Amino acid sequence: MIKIRLEEPRDISQIYLVNQLAFGQAAEANLVNALRNSKALALSLVAEADGEIVGHIAFSPVRIESENSCFEALGLGPMAVLPGRQKSGIGSQLVEAGLRECAKTPYELIVVLGHPDYYPRFGFAPAGHFGISWEENAPEGAFMVRELKKGTLSKIRGIVKYRPEFNAL
Ligand SMILES: CC(C)(COP(=O)(O)OP(=O)(O)OC[C@H]1O[C@@H](n2cnc3c(N)ncnc32)[C@H](O)[C@@H]1OP(=O)(O)O)[C@@H](O)C(=O)NCCC(=O)NCCS
Repeated sequence: MIKIRLEEPRDISQIYLVNQLAFGQAAEANLVNALRNSKALALSLVAEADGEIVGHIAFSPVRIESENSCFEALGLGPMAVLPGRQKSGIGSQLVEAGLRECAKTPYELIVVLGHPDYYPRFGFAPAGHFGISWEENAPEGAFMVRELKKGTLSKIRGIVKYRPEFNAL
């Protein structure tokens, strides 16, 4: 039985471990800590099974800038499921619960840099189709967007700026 809930302070070390084990490196785990420490973790959900944290998903603010506009959206990631628990639907439960929570916020759009075969099932589509790009070169199809509010993609164009202080992590 998997329970999806908001992170609590007692989860922090387990969240670190889940990210580190899932990605096979510490960069994403460090990024989660950096986001939390700078109060940029807009939403952080955990998947709990028998008292153990087996998955995690984070959302943080990003800016979409063009010559004459600046729009604040949410970025999905990092997201991680313990290697031994993958492919059993935990990641999907985290994304779906995350999207439900994000829909309750004033944000109107979510972006993600991730696996092009994974996120479309949750309504994400290539950002390039809508004139939105990543400030770095993203692999083809890997940078995706999803509306939280219908019609948002018809009014936004630009380059997504991630917080520069996290680029070095
Ligand atoms: C990506 C991840 C979070 C998915 O979690 P999960 O619990 O395994 O996801 P689910 O069980 O809900 O879904 C499994 C599906 O994800 C797909 N998937 C997993 N990793 C994938 C990848 N690297 N590329 C494309 N699809 C992937 C599986 O093929 C499976 O597809 P299917 O349903 O068509 O068989 C998990 O695999 C993970 O932690 N991976 C390592 C870290 C990572 O890459 N995070 C995401 C960064 S964008």
